[in-house]
This record gives sequence, C-alpha cells and structure tokens, in this order.
Amino acid sequence: MNTSNSKFTWNNPPEASTTVTINFEGETRIVPAGVTVAAALLGHDDEHVCRSAADQEKRSPYCLMGVCFECLVEIDGLQNRQACLEPVFDGMSVKRQDKVVNEKK
Ligand code: FES
Repeated sequence: MNTSNSKFTWNNPPEASTTVTINFEGETRIVPAGVTVAAALLGHDDEHVCRSAADQEKRSPYCLMGVCFECLVEIDGLQNRQACLEPVFDGMSVKRQDKVVNEKK
C-alpha cells in the first residue's frame, strides 16, 4: 500500500487485497477497505473536504458520527453525502462540496 502521502503511521499496513482505490478531486488514492470516506480523506493531507454554507469557510470532518455535517461531499455525482457515514468502495469518485445543496430542486 502506498502510504507516502498519508499523515498517519500504519503499524500494520493492510495487504494490497484489503485496499480499495478511490478518486478524490481527480487524484487517485489507495485507502484501506472498510473505512469511511472521511477516515480515508483524513489519512491524507487534504486541506479541507467542503466549505460552510454560511460563510464559505473551509471545513473538515469533525464529529465522525453524522452529527455536525462538516463532511459533506459529492460521491459519484450525488451531493450532500456525509463522508463520515459512507464506506469507501473501489472506483468511487469523491469531490469537495462548497455549499449545502437543496435536493428538492
Ligand atoms: S464528520 Fe460530523 S457529520 Fe460527518
């Protein structure tokens, strides 16, 4: 597993068969299988995953349990996905979300 751009030290790096490949903002990431999108993104040095709808401040996952909504991303074209509640899967495409999107439009 390529952990060269990970900020975490893996004591027992997962074997290649226990990783999946995701795409974040056009960049390929090899991440452990079974983790959430938020955990996968926090393992890399990303500046932020979304922006606040109120003031456009950069935000990153905070509570990691679906409460704060600081982790909204677009996954495979679907907006307003909470990265902390979505498990990674091979080939998924994740993009930053800059504002809360009204899904009723
Ligand atoms: S990190 Fe708080 S809702 Fe996802």
